[in-house]
This record gives sequence, C-alpha cells and structure tokens, in this order.
Amino acid sequence: MSILSRDTALLPPKIQKWVNDTAALCQPDNIHICDGSQSEYDTLCALLVKEGIFHQLDSVKRPNSFLARSSQEDVARVEARTFICSKTRDQAGPTNNWMDPEEMRKILMPLFKGSMHGRTMYVIPYSMGPLNSPYAKIGIEITDSPYVVCNMRIMTRIGQEVLNKLGDGEFVPGVHSVGAPLEPGQKDSHWPCNPHHVYITHFPETREIWSYGSGYGGNALLGKKCFALRIASVQARDEGWLAEHMLICAITNPAGEKKYIAAAFPSACGKTNLAMMNPTLPGWKIETVGDDIAWIGYGPDHRLRAINPETGFFGVCPGTSLKSNPNAMKAIHSNSIFTNVALTDDGDVWWEGMTDKPPAHAISWTNQEWTPNSPEKAAHPNSRFTTPISQCPIVDPAWVDPHGVPLSAIIFGGRRSTAVPLVCESFSWQHGTFLGTSISSEMTAAAEGQVGKLRHDPFAMLPFCGYHMGDYFAHWLSFARKKDLGKLPKIYTVNWFQKGADGKFLWPGFGENSRVLKWIFERTSGVQNGVETPIGILPAPGALDVSGLDLSPDSIKELLRVDVEAWKKEAAELREYYKIFGDRLPAGIKDELQQLEARLDKTS
Ligand code: GTP
Ligand code: SPV
Ligand code: MN
Repeated sequence: MSILSRDTALLPPKIQKWVNDTAALCQPDNIHICDGSQSEYDTLCALLVKEGIFHQLDSVKRPNSFLARSSQEDVARVEARTFICSKTRDQAGPTNNWMDPEEMRKILMPLFKGSMHGRTMYVIPYSMGPLNSPYAKIGIEITDSPYVVCNMRIMTRIGQEVLNKLGDGEFVPGVHSVGAPLEPGQKDSHWPCNPHHVYITHFPETREIWSYGSGYGGNALLGKKCFALRIASVQARDEGWLAEHMLICAITNPAGEKKYIAAAFPSACGKTNLAMMNPTLPGWKIETVGDDIAWIGYGPDHRLRAINPETGFFGVCPGTSLKSNPNAMKAIHSNSIFTNVALTDDGDVWWEGMTDKPPAHAISWTNQEWTPNSPEKAAHPNSRFTTPISQCPIVDPAWVDPHGVPLSAIIFGGRRSTAVPLVCESFSWQHGTFLGTSISSEMTAAAEGQVGKLRHDPFAMLPFCGYHMGDYFAHWLSFARKKDLGKLPKIYTVNWFQKGADGKFLWPGFGENSRVLKWIFERTSGVQNGVETPIGILPAPGALDVSGLDLSPDSIKELLRVDVEAWKKEAAELREYYKIFGDRLPAGIKDELQQLEARLDKTS
C-alpha cells in the first residue's frame, strides 16, 4: 500500500488538522490522500481485485470494468437510519428522522473510535460541479472503502485539482466508515459493512456528514444524496437557490430549436431513462446533462439555470436494455463498475430485462449458480452501474457549462398506477409548486422498505430534504419574483406508469415519452393545444402526437382522463397529509388546495 500513501503535511492547515483528528479517532493503518489520477484508480482496482471485492470483467466484452457483489444486508439506501441532526427537531421537520446533534455525536464517536483498524483511510477531495463554476461546491470525503474511492472518481471530480482550488477555503467534511475494523490477522469479508449499526447522519448547521455501517450507493458515496441534496438543500435555502433530485436534458425539435428541461421523479422512477432517451418521434433529439441531481439558481439573465453537480451515472441496471435505454447501454461498454448484477459464463454482466433471452447459465449477485429456472433473481432489483457521463453518446456539450443551462420546463412525476394522467400543465408557478408538494409514488427497491406501497414524496425529495419540508415548499414559492415571473419555467406533472384493468402499463414509455415532451415543448413555445381541467391543463383532443402508436383510442382516453371522483379522494387525502406540516404549510399551498377542491366541486 505504500505506493498509495502521501503525506498529510502537504495539505492546507485546516484540512490537515481535520484529517489528523479523524485519523486519531478512527485509527487506520495508513492514510492516503487521493490525487484522482488514472494510475491511482488502476492501482485501487487492482487492489480490490486482489482482495476479492472486484471481479474484473472480460477485457474485450467490457474493457476496464468490474463487478462487485455487496453483502445481502447492504443493498440500498436505508431511510430509517438516515438522520438530520439540526439543533431542534422542528428544523428537521416532520418528514425527517431527527436526533439532537450532541446526542448523535455521543452515539457516533464510540462507533468511529478505532473503526478503521487494519484499513487504509482514504481522503477524497471532490467538487460538486465544474471546478470553474460559480455554483460548484467542494467536499472532502474520508472513507475506509476503496470501492467508494473508485465510485467517487467516476461520480465526481476528485483529486489534486480540487485541493488546488480549495486552498484553505470552506468545504463540506464527510466521514464514512464501513464500520468493520480488522484485528491483526483477521480475514476481511468480501463486502465489509455493519448492517446492524447503520447511521447516515447530517449536521446542517455545521454542514457535516457522518456515515457508518454501509458501503452501498447513496449511503456511502457522500457527494450524492448526503451532500448534493441533504446538505446542499440547506445551503440552497440560505443562499437563494435550489438543490433538487432532478435529471436535466436538452430537447431539440425538428426545426433545430433547442430547450432544456429538468424533471424530478422518485428513486427508480425513470430519471436516467428520460435523461438519455432516444425519441421515437422523427426529427426530435434529446441530449443528456444529468440524470439524478440538479442545482438550480437564477442566472444573470434572470432565467433559472441548472448545473449537474455530478460526472457519472449511478444507474439502475434491471430493465436497462438496448431497446429501453440504448444510450446507457453504450455508455457502460467500458470503464464501468457494476454492483450486484449477475456474471455470465463469458465474463460479462447480465440483469433482468437486459436481453429478451436470459443466459442459459450465470453466477447470480449472491454468488450462486443461476439458470433461467432459478426462483431467485440473477441481479438484485437495485443493482447499479457506475459509469462516466462523458461516455454517454448523447451527452450535451453544455453538461460542463459552468453557468448551467436555462430551464424552459420543470416536470414532476411518480409511479402511479391510477388517477394521475399522462401529463398535466400547471396554471402558474404557485400551482406548479403545489403540484410538486402533491407528488406521491409507489415505493421501489432503491430504498429499504415496502416495494409498491404508495407514499407521499413531495418534489421526489422526501428522503433528501435537509430541513423542514414546509419551509422547503415556501422556498420554492419564493422563486416567483415579480420581475422574473415571465421567465420562469412552466411546471408539469407526468405519469408513465398508469395500469389498465389487465395490470399492464397503459403507456409504452421510454422513447415514446418523446410524444409527451413534444407537447410540453410546444406549450413552452405558446402553442394553444391544451384544455383546462380542474387539476390543470391537459392536451386538447388530438394534441398529443400518437401517430404510429399501437394504442387503442380507449387507452389514450384513459391516459388523459381526469376522474373527478378519484381526484376528490386525492384532494381529501392530501388535505389530511398536509396536517403534518401544521402552521409551516405556506398559505400559497393551502390556497391552491382549496382552489383545486372548489374546481372539482364545480365539475361534478
Ligand atoms: P434513481 O437512480 O434511483 O434515482 O432512479 P431513476 O429515477 O433514474 O430511474 P431509472 O431511469 O433508472 O428507471 C428505473 C426503472 O424504471 C428501470 O427499471 C426502468 O426500466 C423503468 N422505467 C424507466 N422509464 C420507464 C417508462 O417510461 N416506462 C416504464 N414502464 N418503465 C420505465
Ligand atoms: C436514489 O435512490 O435516488 C439513487 C441511488 O439515485 S442512491 O445513490 O443509492 O441514492
Ligand atoms: Mn436518485
């Protein structure tokens, strides 16, 4: 390991002190400051292969790519073990797990004490956002997981250039330990973790992150949900911008006119797929800026502009195929890390839905012999690829624009088998914000919990908002600055997941979603092709381009139907849900609910 180690004395004083203090607490065998180089990455991958954590995939089929299999007890984000440790419970609000910061430190310090015995402590300086962007922010993650280092190098900008920019400036410190110290001579597990003592903790006042016990995804790659959403949402509130769980992409129409949109869907509800879709409509083009997180603020042109703070995709594998998402399939052809997918006999990866015909034999994510007759799945439902955005064939040139891209539309969505129509436009920014608050979605495998259960997930931010959700609603409303009203993006809801009586999806989805984007594009250009309904503006009859689609007129009608009775129930249920926000529910949101109820009453 000595080739990896570098002297902490080279660090600026503030960072040096923090690194040394953390080392004194966690007591690692070595300290390594990451320079972010390719040779460092290659050395770490080789080390992971040697330790049996990485399996190198076939060098022709999947060059420079690796498979990792996690512990079966560490496969997704754990929302029940995720805490916002603000000074008061009220600051964390009713939707977060709260713990007093001092109480939490009393729990964490004994856990972290000696937690890195027998391991190397890696120090990863990283930037969320292009280094030359006024929106970018710097974090430093300390971790005892080399798997995390390799993933962070794909997902963020890491290394020496970040330290050069940072100097002795401000950064968000994050300490991560898998919580599995090794005693001398003790053999390491193939995926060290401590599933019975998981703590994913955030200290909004001091802008700190402490994560213990899990090595998986958003629990461990601290730049992603912990920093870029939970801590950043607090920074955004204080500084007047928005940190959102949103994809960003460009849409170009056949005339060559290009617009940008951002879309918030809950985890595993279609962001990555929409961000890199191949439109089925001739002449239309999508280009990708980001697939998970958007930092949005007013630009000097008074338009809302978005940057993608990440540099990689940590995308859901199952369901990803050349048919459903060819651009993702091309992006992951090399230089990628796969976690919890199956290994084929020819040294490649496989997951459910990747090909029509499954391989005759594979090794499953649990390291068992697998055939199509096996009762278990070959890949875990939350198995993921980590791959550089730069490898996406349709990446937008502006994905690294330090000033971000101007947004013409913001879309909210979720997984709703009933009631919520294919697409709906809000009447105003305030009504659009209300639509954001009203999002609910059937749960997925991206987080521990009951898959399929319907739950409220305002703005797709339920697990990611670092402060009181009622105040977050108010923050959104505050963007309707009078002088900028005309320049704000229009707000929409979409739902690709309505089911028919046979239990099958009514809408073909994926590339066909371009038909919905076309309508949105036209609306943002002022085309009068909508009809007012009690819930918002829907496509006028014939306005949704369904040419060439094999869909019955009845299905189309169902997809665009506003079922007034069902919506009365939705509204009543929302009114009940809002009670948790008490007097922190902004008046603007209350008004919108009242107006919705009034419109529904008038219709029946
Ligand atoms: P996170 O990375 O967890 O935030 O997820 P995401 O929002 O990026 O979701 P993703 O695009 O990875 O899609 C999750 C699952 O939904 C995959 O299995 C997709 O195949 C499936 N999916 C995506 N878009 C559609 C769609 O339009 N229709 C249907 N039926 N399924 C879709
Ligand atoms: C999500 O759950 O929304 C993800 C995956 O994007 S993770 O990085 O694990 O949070
Ligand atoms: Mn996500």
